[in-house]
Amino acid sequence: MVTAYDVPTAKMADAGGADLILVGDSLGMVVLGYESTLQVTVDDVVHHAAAVTRARPRALVVGDMPWLSYHTGVRDAVINAGRLIAEGGCHAVKIEGGRKRLAVIEALLDAEIPVMGHIGLTPQSVHQMGGFKVQGKDLAAAERLLHDAKAVTAAGVFSLVLEGIPRHLASLITRSVDVPTIGIGAGPECDGQVLVIHDLLGLTTGAAPKFVRRFAHMADDGGAAVAAYCDAVRSGAFPSDDESYHESEALRSELAERFGS
Ligand code: KIV
Repeated sequence: MVTAYDVPTAKMADAGGADLILVGDSLGMVVLGYESTLQVTVDDVVHHAAAVTRARPRALVVGDMPWLSYHTGVRDAVINAGRLIAEGGCHAVKIEGGRKRLAVIEALLDAEIPVMGHIGLTPQSVHQMGGFKVQGKDLAAAERLLHDAKAVTAAGVFSLVLEGIPRHLASLITRSVDVPTIGIGAGPECDGQVLVIHDLLGLTTGAAPKFVRRFAHMADDGGAAVAAYCDAVRSGAFPSDDESYHESEALRSELAERFGS
């Protein structure tokens, strides 16, 4: 799985053969310039999901339910998830949290909306967690995560994102549930993996979390391309005659006659 937020990233995800596209609320940080995902609204996700699905990707498209879109009651959750499906064109939604989300999962499934779970380092709980920190680091916390995984799976999520969880605990959770787990910062034993597309393309710069691998360096390549363009414009090398439109010979001589060459 990889995230996408617009037509070009959806096309790249699809061309690269990703099975799932997540229109993640990470869009707040990588596209909209927010410090966290907490400012992202349902309108934002609908807007970006609609762009992704207009690209008609082959991959299954999952829309991320932003903070407060499912915390205020199951009715709000169903209405907001319904918007991601009906207006954004998503096939499923993702919600963060373990056992405390069981009522929401049930209500969404009752409304025929497939749900992906997400436990561990859940970015919407950044303040409660005291920062973006790896979770499940002592026995009690590890047991809580295992119970959460089993509970949301029993409630009917079709897949479960494990984020920021130590490798062997993520492996144990993967072996303990009967739906595919998708890891991010959770080691190689998860059934699948997810990365934010801007991270894997190297469109984000500076220090990255330990689990990020940059498979390309598009921010550097993009900067170099714009620098080459600016140089070519300033030196007069761009555009060339081949990159220009041409009027007919007749019009050219008429213009010359009337206005001088
Ligand atoms: O918003 C997002 O991109 C996510 C993934 C990183 C799992 O939730």
